[in-house]
Amino acid sequence: AADMGADLEKVLISADEIRDKLAELAARVDEDYAGKDVLLLGVLKGAALVMSDFVRALHVPAQMDWMAISSYGSGTKSSGVVRIVKDLDTDITGRHVLIVEDIIDSGLTLSWLVANLSSRGAASVEILTLLRKPEAAKVHVDVRYTGFEIPNEFVVGYGLDFAERYRGLPFVGTLAPHVYRS
Ligand code: PRP
Ligand code: MN
Ligand code: MG
Repeated sequence: AADMGADLEKVLISADEIRDKLAELAARVDEDYAGKDVLLLGVLKGAALVMSDFVRALHVPAQMDWMAISSYGSGTKSSGVVRIVKDLDTDITGRHVLIVEDIIDSGLTLSWLVANLSSRGAASVEILTLLRKPEAAKVHVDVRYTGFEIPNEFVVGYGLDFAERYRGLPFVGTLAPHVYRS
């Protein structure tokens, strides 16, 4: 993992807390999807770490596929206009799809994705996210499995980046203001 250095302000969610929470969510998913074949859909790149730990905590048979999507628009905020950079390899007709995300911020990425997947004839589309910022929500998204609700602060680590850095931290933390001001 990256060196914390002076870039981080504080640890918001520790590696232990993440591990325990993913085990708890996996137990719920095991129960809800008993007897079904679930397709876990990871949203690159942020969800890579959640996916790799979550799939190992699950007991129901699960497949994995990935999409990379990019929000058009200037700046760091997503605009809600989404472009598929890498599509699924899997035909999801009749499949039970569980989207795996690292964070829901404005909700624009996921509301677009849920509509897109539903139009492909999935039997069900649900969402699992490690983090959610309730204060930042611009659109309503129905999330079945939420790890932690967090304040509206800029967070990095465990998949989450700032300018592609810090994704490899084993915990979720906040950046010192000097990092994103400079
Ligand atoms: C981040 C994050 C979510 C999305 C949430 O991805 O991983 O996918 O933004 O934002 P929203 O709810 O406001 O739409 P990003 O677009 O930064 O790509 P990345 O996963 O490759 O970092
Ligand atoms: Mn992402
Ligand atoms: Mg990002």
